[in-house]
Amino acid sequence: MRVLVTGAAGYIGSIVAEVLIARGHTVSAYDDLSEGHRDAVPDGAAFFQGDLLDRARLDAVLREARPDAVVHMAAVCQVGESVADPAKYYRVNVLGGLTLLNALRAAGVARLVFSSTAAVYGEPAKQPIEEDDPTAPSNPYGESKLAFERALGWYGGAYGLRAVSLRYFNAAGASARAGERHSPETHLIPIVLQAAVVLLLFAGLAFVRFAVRR
Ligand SMILES: NC(=O)c1ccc[n+]([C@@H]2O[C@H](COP(=O)([O-])OP(=O)(O)OC[C@H]3O[C@@H](n4cnc5c(N)ncnc54)[C@H](O)[C@@H]3O)[C@@H](O)[C@H]2O)c1
Repeated sequence: MRVLVTGAAGYIGSIVAEVLIARGHTVSAYDDLSEGHRDAVPDGAAFFQGDLLDRARLDAVLREARPDAVVHMAAVCQVGESVADPAKYYRVNVLGGLTLLNALRAAGVARLVFSSTAAVYGEPAKQPIEEDDPTAPSNPYGESKLAFERALGWYGGAYGLRAVSLRYFNAAGASARAGERHSPETHLIPIVLQAAVVLLLFAGLAFVRFAVRR
């Protein structure tokens, strides 16, 4: 299958692209490199630099890549920043997402996997959260993701788009080739690991000073 991965220079998108290639799919990568890294895109993927909001660029890439399906991961995704600058989140995640959907519709691409987020649930009334629990985002990031999910539903009913939204929590892990490289890092797992590395360094330094004194 030919798959276009948006956000393929980012953490999760680059590994999704890598796994798709390993499973024999033909992958095209679309990313504006605003956050991602060109060297994170696996060698086997055709790379197209472009903004989600650039309809002409999207049309040209879809003509060239002719995907059967799209994995949509490109987004801005920092909760704190979304509260300080909601306009950016509506522009990229909602307007950018709709620009992509309209380009896909024009190109006849009818299958999409959307990288949504558990932030659509907001502050849950109970734990663990179940998939069909009520959605009530508590920040513009979650709100923008939910708005796009809802657009997918309406586009599906009207235009036959088949889409699935994956609402995941803190992603963690790496492939042998690539891993998480955000700046600033706001995700739980890498921050815990960074703290552990700093602690080990201090423990090592303390041990060396102790050994030298003796
Ligand atoms: N990392 C997590 O724990 C987590 C959890 C839940 C959901 N998600 C979602 O998964 C997706 C990927 O997350 P990630 O951690 O890999 O983020 P990331 O920032 O590493 O990757 C996002 C990519 O999108 C690109 N991008 C941003 N704006 C763009 C635009 N206008 N046009 C084209 N490309 C653009 C960036 O350059 C970047 O490479 C996001 O949609 C995020 O909301 C992530």
